[in-house]
Amino acid sequence: MAQSQKDYSSISPSAKSLLLMKGYTDIPYAKETAALMQGSEVFGLSFDEQDFWFWIRVMHFEARYWSIDQLLKQTDCKNILELSSGYSLRGLDLCITDDTIHYIDTDLPEVIATKQDMINHLQLANEAKGKFELLPLNAMDATAFENTASRFNAKPLAIVNEGLLMYLNIDEKKQLCKSIHSTLKKHGGYWITADVYVKRSAEMTAELPQSKSEATFFQQHNIEENKFDSYPAAEAFFKEQGFELVKEATINYAGLSVMPHLLKIMPEQVRNSKEPPPKIQATWMLKAV
Ligand SMILES: C[S@@+](CC[C@H](N)C(=O)[O-])C[C@H]1O[C@@H](n2cnc3c(N)ncnc32)[C@H](O)[C@@H]1O
Repeated sequence: MAQSQKDYSSISPSAKSLLLMKGYTDIPYAKETAALMQGSEVFGLSFDEQDFWFWIRVMHFEARYWSIDQLLKQTDCKNILELSSGYSLRGLDLCITDDTIHYIDTDLPEVIATKQDMINHLQLANEAKGKFELLPLNAMDATAFENTASRFNAKPLAIVNEGLLMYLNIDEKKQLCKSIHSTLKKHGGYWITADVYVKRSAEMTAELPQSKSEATFFQQHNIEENKFDSYPAAEAFFKEQGFELVKEATINYAGLSVMPHLLKIMPEQVRNSKEPPPKIQATWMLKAV
């Protein structure tokens, strides 16, 4: 099946689960937008128990969100294209505070329509001082990708994404890399991706509780298989696609809004441990060479 014709919308329910988790953090507008979400979510999250593993996950997604902002600030790019943004309002938040930003926030049409309703409901659209565009884009559609990127003027561009590559097989990843590479060659700039996930060890998989519905969702989308074998393997993959690793984000765990909740229920031996949590993911700034 041509990749632009595959039904990627089966991935979209994951964005809702992520937003509901982010609703427990101070990520801009996450609480407000999460409160507008209707119906059940696909990961079967333990919102009632709010146990240790619940907060660990919230911590992971909060850290991932800020890791993109951290690298984005270091690029000083004023033109930003976010792919598969889900219900994140990073772009609108940036445009509310900075009138020099042109942010194009994209996802599949259904997600964009729901997000537009949320923005309307919260009356945020007129707050933007910068140029904020919320547009449907199937990132796997090379022509649509190019058309969307051509909306920016020639200045350097930052392309950002989190939560997409683990849903793509190797050929799909290569196809996406091709679109990103040719866009960055034309405009200059960087790709910031938080999707450098490596396969989990058997012990880690055994330790992490997963609901039946989440396990099924992950199996259906081959999540574990789609992850990289290791960080060097990920770097080699991006190199083959014409990218150079410029830098990696560093996580300031102590500064996360989720920390007070997590510390309250953290088992004694984890609290006393001087070790950081096991590294399952990295956020990289890449340059097209
Ligand atoms: C795990 S969610 C991540 C959402 C958001 N980036 C976040 O971290 O909260 C995956 C997102 O990818 C989007 N998606 C899946 N396939 C896509 C494609 N081909 N083009 C654009 N977006 C896609 C889904 O609609 C969904 O919003």
